[in-house]
Amino acid sequence: KRPAGAPDPQLARPVTKVGVVGAGLMASQLALLFARQLKVPVVMTDIDQARVDKGVGYVHAEVDKLLAKKRISADAANRTKALVTGSAAKEAFADADFVIEAVFEELSVKKQVFAEVEAVVSENCILATNTSSLSVTEMAADLLHPERVVGFHFFNPVAVMPLLEIVRAPKTSDEVLSTAFVLGKALKKTTVLVQDAAAFVVNRVLLRLMGEVANAFDEGTPADVADNALKPMGLPMTPFTLLAMVGIPVAQHVTESLHAAFGERFRVSANQQRLIDNGITSLWVADDAGRQVIPEATLALLD
Ligand code: 3HC
Repeated sequence: KRPAGAPDPQLARPVTKVGVVGAGLMASQLALLFARQLKVPVVMTDIDQARVDKGVGYVHAEVDKLLAKKRISADAANRTKALVTGSAAKEAFADADFVIEAVFEELSVKKQVFAEVEAVVSENCILATNTSSLSVTEMAADLLHPERVVGFHFFNPVAVMPLLEIVRAPKTSDEVLSTAFVLGKALKKTTVLVQDAAAFVVNRVLLRLMGEVANAFDEGTPADVADNALKPMGLPMTPFTLLAMVGIPVAQHVTESLHAAFGERFRVSANQQRLIDNGITSLWVADDAGRQVIPEATLALLD
Protein backbone atom coordinates (compact mmCIF):
# COMPACT_ATOMS: atom_id res chain seq x y z
CA LYS A 1 0.00 0.00 0.00
CA ARG A 2 2.90 2.36 0.61
CA PRO A 3 3.67 4.74 -2.26
CA ALA A 4 7.03 4.03 -3.89
CA GLY A 5 9.75 6.62 -3.37
CA ALA A 6 10.16 9.66 -5.59
CA PRO A 7 11.55 8.57 -8.94
CA ASP A 8 14.71 9.79 -10.63
CA PRO A 9 14.73 13.61 -11.02
CA GLN A 10 16.36 13.04 -14.42
CA LEU A 11 12.93 11.94 -15.66
CA ALA A 12 11.45 15.37 -14.91
CA ARG A 13 10.09 17.41 -17.80
CA PRO A 14 10.65 21.15 -18.19
CA VAL A 15 7.78 23.41 -17.19
CA THR A 16 7.69 26.58 -19.28
CA LYS A 17 4.08 27.67 -18.88
CA VAL A 18 1.65 27.06 -16.03
CA GLY A 19 -2.15 27.12 -16.02
CA VAL A 20 -4.20 27.67 -12.86
CA VAL A 21 -7.86 26.68 -12.91
CA GLY A 22 -9.79 28.89 -10.54
CA ALA A 23 -9.14 32.46 -9.46
CA GLY A 24 -10.20 32.25 -5.83
CA LEU A 25 -7.89 32.87 -2.88
CA MET A 26 -5.95 29.59 -3.06
CA ALA A 27 -5.67 29.70 -6.86
CA SER A 28 -4.44 33.31 -6.80
CA GLN A 29 -1.84 32.49 -4.16
CA LEU A 30 -0.67 29.60 -6.36
CA ALA A 31 -0.44 31.83 -9.45
CA LEU A 32 1.74 34.25 -7.51
CA LEU A 33 4.00 31.49 -6.19
CA PHE A 34 4.53 29.92 -9.63
CA ALA A 35 5.22 33.25 -11.34
CA ARG A 36 7.54 34.48 -8.62
CA GLN A 37 9.58 31.32 -8.12
CA LEU A 38 9.57 29.73 -11.60
CA LYS A 39 9.56 32.99 -13.56
CA VAL A 40 7.39 31.43 -16.27
CA PRO A 41 4.06 32.69 -17.68
CA VAL A 42 1.07 31.72 -15.56
CA VAL A 43 -2.47 31.95 -16.92
CA MET A 44 -5.50 31.80 -14.63
CA THR A 45 -9.01 30.84 -15.73
CA ASP A 46 -12.37 30.87 -14.01
CA ILE A 47 -16.01 30.66 -15.02
CA ASP A 48 -16.30 34.35 -15.93
CA GLN A 49 -14.10 37.34 -16.67
CA ALA A 50 -15.04 39.17 -13.46
CA ARG A 51 -13.68 36.31 -11.32
CA VAL A 52 -10.55 36.11 -13.47
CA ASP A 53 -9.95 39.86 -13.12
CA LYS A 54 -10.36 39.62 -9.35
CA GLY A 55 -7.78 36.81 -9.17
CA VAL A 56 -5.23 38.65 -11.32
CA GLY A 57 -5.93 41.81 -9.28
CA TYR A 58 -5.19 39.90 -6.07
CA VAL A 59 -1.84 38.75 -7.46
CA HIS A 60 -0.89 42.28 -8.50
CA ALA A 61 -1.88 43.66 -5.07
CA GLU A 62 0.21 40.99 -3.30
CA VAL A 63 3.21 41.86 -5.51
CA ASP A 64 2.74 45.54 -4.57
CA LYS A 65 2.78 44.55 -0.88
CA LEU A 66 6.05 42.65 -1.38
CA LEU A 67 7.48 45.70 -3.14
CA ALA A 68 6.37 48.02 -0.33
CA LYS A 69 8.09 45.70 2.18
CA LYS A 70 11.20 45.77 -0.06
CA ARG A 71 11.03 42.00 -0.40
CA ILE A 72 11.42 42.27 -4.19
CA SER A 73 12.92 44.83 -6.54
CA ALA A 74 10.77 47.07 -8.71
CA ASP A 75 12.05 45.12 -11.74
CA ALA A 76 11.09 41.77 -10.26
CA ALA A 77 7.68 43.17 -9.27
CA ASN A 78 6.97 44.34 -12.80
CA ARG A 79 8.20 41.06 -14.30
CA THR A 80 6.09 38.99 -11.91
CA LYS A 81 2.97 41.02 -12.63
CA ALA A 82 3.50 40.73 -16.37
CA LEU A 83 3.85 36.93 -16.09
CA VAL A 84 0.37 36.50 -14.56
CA THR A 85 -2.53 36.82 -16.97
CA GLY A 86 -6.10 35.64 -17.00
CA SER A 87 -8.67 34.30 -19.43
CA ALA A 88 -12.22 33.07 -19.14
CA ALA A 89 -11.46 30.40 -21.80
CA LYS A 90 -9.55 27.21 -21.01
CA GLU A 91 -8.06 27.37 -24.53
CA ALA A 92 -5.52 29.69 -22.88
CA PHE A 93 -3.95 26.47 -21.53
CA ALA A 94 -3.21 25.11 -25.04
CA ASP A 95 0.56 25.56 -24.68
CA ALA A 96 0.83 25.00 -20.91
CA ASP A 97 2.85 22.02 -19.70
CA PHE A 98 1.56 22.07 -16.12
CA VAL A 99 -2.01 22.91 -15.13
CA ILE A 100 -3.11 22.94 -11.49
CA GLU A 101 -6.72 23.17 -10.41
CA ALA A 102 -7.85 24.88 -7.21
CA VAL A 103 -11.62 24.98 -7.75
CA PHE A 104 -14.52 24.12 -5.45
CA GLU A 105 -13.85 21.05 -3.28
CA GLU A 106 -16.35 18.72 -4.97
CA LEU A 107 -15.29 15.62 -6.89
CA SER A 108 -17.74 16.05 -9.79
CA VAL A 109 -16.64 19.67 -10.31
CA LYS A 110 -12.97 18.74 -10.30
CA LYS A 111 -13.54 15.81 -12.71
CA GLN A 112 -15.42 18.08 -15.07
CA VAL A 113 -12.60 20.64 -14.93
CA PHE A 114 -9.96 18.01 -15.71
CA ALA A 115 -12.03 16.68 -18.65
CA GLU A 116 -12.34 20.20 -20.07
CA VAL A 117 -8.65 20.93 -19.60
CA GLU A 118 -7.61 17.60 -21.14
CA ALA A 119 -9.59 18.51 -24.25
CA VAL A 120 -7.40 21.57 -24.90
CA VAL A 121 -3.90 20.71 -23.66
CA SER A 122 -1.10 18.74 -25.31
CA GLU A 123 -0.56 15.06 -24.57
CA ASN A 124 2.37 15.78 -22.26
CA CYS A 125 0.67 18.41 -20.13
CA ILE A 126 0.52 17.47 -16.45
CA LEU A 127 -2.75 17.93 -14.58
CA ALA A 128 -2.26 18.63 -10.90
CA THR A 129 -4.90 18.99 -8.22
CA ASN A 130 -4.64 21.07 -5.08
CA THR A 131 -7.49 19.10 -3.50
CA SER A 132 -7.43 19.02 0.30
CA SER A 133 -9.28 15.80 0.74
CA LEU A 134 -10.64 14.17 -2.42
CA SER A 135 -9.33 11.06 -4.17
CA VAL A 136 -6.71 11.87 -6.81
CA THR A 137 -7.25 8.38 -8.23
CA GLU A 138 -10.95 9.14 -8.78
CA MET A 139 -10.13 12.47 -10.34
CA ALA A 140 -7.95 10.75 -12.95
CA ALA A 141 -10.25 7.79 -13.55
CA ASP A 142 -12.18 8.98 -16.62
CA LEU A 143 -9.40 10.85 -18.39
CA LEU A 144 -7.81 9.71 -21.65
CA HIS A 145 -4.42 10.00 -19.94
CA PRO A 146 -4.77 9.26 -16.22
CA GLU A 147 -0.98 8.95 -16.01
CA ARG A 148 -0.72 12.74 -16.26
CA VAL A 149 -2.52 13.38 -12.96
CA VAL A 150 -0.77 14.12 -9.68
CA GLY A 151 -1.84 15.57 -6.32
CA PHE A 152 -0.03 18.80 -5.43
CA HIS A 153 -1.43 19.99 -2.11
CA PHE A 154 -0.35 23.36 -0.72
CA PHE A 155 -1.26 25.00 2.57
CA ASN A 156 -2.68 28.41 3.31
CA PRO A 157 -1.02 30.94 3.28
CA VAL A 158 0.83 29.45 0.31
CA ALA A 159 3.65 32.01 0.33
CA VAL A 160 4.58 31.16 3.90
CA MET A 161 3.71 27.51 4.58
CA PRO A 162 6.72 25.36 3.67
CA LEU A 163 5.04 22.00 3.07
CA LEU A 164 3.82 20.48 -0.20
CA GLU A 165 2.08 17.08 -0.12
CA ILE A 166 2.58 15.24 -3.41
CA VAL A 167 0.12 12.45 -4.16
CA ARG A 168 0.81 9.60 -6.56
CA ALA A 169 -2.28 7.90 -7.93
CA PRO A 170 -1.89 4.29 -9.17
CA LYS A 171 -1.53 5.38 -12.80
CA THR A 172 0.62 8.50 -12.28
CA SER A 173 3.71 8.08 -14.47
CA ASP A 174 7.29 8.28 -13.16
CA GLU A 175 7.87 11.31 -15.42
CA VAL A 176 4.91 13.14 -13.94
CA LEU A 177 5.88 12.34 -10.36
CA SER A 178 9.50 13.35 -11.01
CA THR A 179 8.37 16.63 -12.50
CA ALA A 180 6.17 17.27 -9.48
CA PHE A 181 9.11 16.80 -7.09
CA VAL A 182 11.50 18.92 -9.16
CA LEU A 183 8.84 21.61 -9.44
CA GLY A 184 8.14 21.52 -5.70
CA LYS A 185 11.83 22.11 -5.03
CA ALA A 186 11.93 24.98 -7.55
CA LEU A 187 8.98 26.49 -5.67
CA LYS A 188 11.14 26.26 -2.52
CA LYS A 189 8.76 23.90 -0.74
CA THR A 190 9.50 20.84 1.38
CA THR A 191 8.03 18.00 -0.67
CA VAL A 192 6.63 14.81 0.83
CA LEU A 193 5.08 11.85 -0.95
CA VAL A 194 1.82 10.85 0.71
CA GLN A 195 -0.76 8.13 0.19
CA ASP A 196 -3.93 8.84 -1.78
CA ALA A 197 -6.25 8.60 1.22
CA ALA A 198 -8.86 11.14 2.30
CA ALA A 199 -7.21 14.44 3.37
CA PHE A 200 -3.72 12.88 2.98
CA VAL A 201 -1.70 13.46 6.18
CA VAL A 202 -1.74 17.05 7.44
CA ASN A 203 -5.43 17.86 7.08
CA ARG A 204 -6.39 14.65 8.84
CA VAL A 205 -4.46 15.82 11.85
CA LEU A 206 -5.63 19.44 11.64
CA LEU A 207 -9.30 18.50 11.22
CA ARG A 208 -9.08 16.14 14.16
CA LEU A 209 -7.55 18.94 16.22
CA MET A 210 -10.33 21.36 15.29
CA GLY A 211 -12.96 18.66 15.84
CA GLU A 212 -11.68 17.77 19.31
CA VAL A 213 -11.73 21.43 20.39
CA ALA A 214 -15.35 21.58 19.23
CA ASN A 215 -16.02 18.35 21.18
CA ALA A 216 -14.45 19.77 24.35
CA PHE A 217 -16.78 22.71 23.93
CA ASP A 218 -19.77 20.40 23.42
CA GLU A 219 -18.81 18.61 26.63
CA GLY A 220 -18.91 21.80 28.69
CA THR A 221 -15.65 23.77 28.32
CA PRO A 222 -16.38 27.33 27.11
CA ALA A 223 -15.45 27.79 23.43
CA ASP A 224 -12.82 30.46 23.98
CA VAL A 225 -11.21 28.51 26.84
CA ALA A 226 -11.11 25.28 24.83
CA ASP A 227 -9.63 27.08 21.85
CA ASN A 228 -7.04 29.09 23.79
CA ALA A 229 -6.00 26.07 25.85
CA LEU A 230 -3.83 24.92 22.95
CA LYS A 231 -1.90 28.20 22.66
CA PRO A 232 0.75 27.29 25.26
CA MET A 233 1.43 24.12 23.24
CA GLY A 234 3.25 26.29 20.71
CA LEU A 235 0.70 26.18 17.90
CA PRO A 236 1.03 29.17 15.54
CA MET A 237 -2.77 29.64 15.61
CA THR A 238 -5.59 28.41 17.82
CA PRO A 239 -7.71 25.68 16.16
CA PHE A 240 -10.72 28.01 15.72
CA THR A 241 -8.54 30.76 14.23
CA LEU A 242 -7.19 28.18 11.81
CA LEU A 243 -10.74 27.06 11.08
CA ALA A 244 -11.66 30.63 10.16
CA MET A 245 -8.61 30.94 7.90
CA VAL A 246 -9.26 27.66 6.11
CA GLY A 247 -12.93 28.66 5.89
CA ILE A 248 -15.73 26.86 7.69
CA PRO A 249 -17.29 25.61 4.39
CA VAL A 250 -13.96 24.16 3.19
CA ALA A 251 -13.45 22.52 6.57
CA GLN A 252 -16.97 21.09 6.25
CA HIS A 253 -16.14 19.49 2.88
CA VAL A 254 -12.87 18.06 4.17
CA THR A 255 -14.64 16.68 7.26
CA GLU A 256 -17.31 15.07 5.09
CA SER A 257 -14.63 13.33 2.98
CA LEU A 258 -12.93 12.16 6.17
CA HIS A 259 -16.24 10.95 7.62
CA ALA A 260 -16.97 8.97 4.44
CA ALA A 261 -13.52 7.39 4.61
CA PHE A 262 -13.00 6.87 8.35
CA GLY A 263 -16.45 7.09 9.94
CA GLU A 264 -17.07 8.50 13.42
CA ARG A 265 -13.45 9.62 13.97
CA PHE A 266 -14.47 12.64 11.90
CA ARG A 267 -17.81 14.40 11.84
CA VAL A 268 -19.18 17.89 11.29
CA SER A 269 -20.42 18.71 14.81
CA ALA A 270 -23.99 19.93 15.27
CA ASN A 271 -22.69 23.33 16.40
CA GLN A 272 -20.37 23.64 13.38
CA GLN A 273 -23.34 22.83 11.16
CA ARG A 274 -25.35 25.63 12.84
CA LEU A 275 -22.51 28.08 12.10
CA ILE A 276 -22.48 27.00 8.46
CA ASP A 277 -26.27 27.26 8.21
CA ASN A 278 -26.07 30.79 9.63
CA GLY A 279 -23.31 31.92 7.29
CA ILE A 280 -20.73 32.37 10.07
CA THR A 281 -17.28 32.05 8.52
CA SER A 282 -15.13 33.25 11.38
CA LEU A 283 -15.45 32.73 15.13
CA TRP A 284 -13.02 35.31 16.42
CA VAL A 285 -13.55 38.96 15.50
CA ALA A 286 -11.91 42.14 16.79
CA ASP A 287 -14.00 44.07 19.34
CA ASP A 288 -13.97 47.90 19.68
CA ALA A 289 -10.72 47.74 21.64
CA GLY A 290 -9.10 45.56 18.98
CA ARG A 291 -9.20 42.42 21.14
CA GLN A 292 -10.11 39.13 19.44
CA VAL A 293 -13.40 37.85 20.88
CA ILE A 294 -16.08 35.35 19.91
CA PRO A 295 -19.28 37.47 19.57
CA GLU A 296 -22.28 36.64 21.80
CA ALA A 297 -24.41 35.84 18.75
CA THR A 298 -21.88 33.25 17.60
CA LEU A 299 -21.62 31.78 21.09
CA ALA A 300 -25.41 31.48 21.16
CA LEU A 301 -25.29 29.45 17.93
CA LEU A 302 -22.59 27.21 19.39
CA ASP A 303 -24.65 26.42 22.51
N1 3HC B 1 -0.27 35.75 2.53
C1 3HC B 1 1.05 36.05 2.40
N2 3HC B 1 1.87 36.20 3.45
C2 3HC B 1 1.33 36.07 4.67
C3 3HC B 1 -0.02 35.77 4.89
C4 3HC B 1 -0.83 35.62 3.75
N3 3HC B 1 -2.12 35.32 3.85
N4 3HC B 1 -0.25 35.70 6.22
C5 3HC B 1 0.92 35.96 6.82
N5 3HC B 1 1.87 36.16 5.89
C6 3HC B 1 3.27 36.48 6.12
C7 3HC B 1 3.41 37.83 6.73
O1 3HC B 1 3.41 38.84 5.74
C8 3HC B 1 4.75 37.73 7.44
O2 3HC B 1 5.77 37.89 6.48
P1 3HC B 1 6.91 38.99 6.69
O3 3HC B 1 7.66 38.49 7.88
O4 3HC B 1 7.66 38.90 5.45
O5 3HC B 1 6.22 40.28 6.94
C9 3HC B 1 4.80 36.25 7.89
O6 3HC B 1 3.83 35.57 7.07
C10 3HC B 1 4.44 36.09 9.33
O7 3HC B 1 3.16 36.68 9.52
P2 3HC B 1 2.72 37.46 10.83
O8 3HC B 1 3.95 37.97 11.54
O9 3HC B 1 1.65 38.42 10.49
O10 3HC B 1 1.98 36.40 11.74
P3 3HC B 1 2.46 35.02 12.31
O11 3HC B 1 3.89 35.00 12.71
O12 3HC B 1 1.43 34.69 13.33
O13 3HC B 1 2.29 33.99 11.09
C11 3HC B 1 0.98 32.44 9.92
C12 3HC B 1 1.09 33.87 10.40
C13 3HC B 1 2.18 32.08 9.05
C14 3HC B 1 -0.30 32.33 9.13
C15 3HC B 1 0.98 31.49 11.19
O14 3HC B 1 0.00 31.92 12.07
C16 3HC B 1 0.76 30.05 10.85
O15 3HC B 1 1.67 29.34 10.44
N6 3HC B 1 -0.51 29.56 11.02
C17 3HC B 1 -0.87 28.18 10.72
C18 3HC B 1 -1.34 28.12 9.33
C19 3HC B 1 -1.74 26.72 8.94
O16 3HC B 1 -1.74 25.79 9.72
N7 3HC B 1 -2.08 26.56 7.67
C20 3HC B 1 -2.57 25.34 7.14
C21 3HC B 1 -4.04 25.44 6.97
S1 3HC B 1 -4.71 23.95 6.32
C22 3HC B 1 -4.64 24.17 4.67
O17 3HC B 1 -4.30 25.18 4.14
C23 3HC B 1 -5.00 23.01 3.87
C24 3HC B 1 -6.21 23.28 3.04
O18 3HC B 1 -6.19 22.27 2.05
C25 3HC B 1 -7.51 23.26 3.79
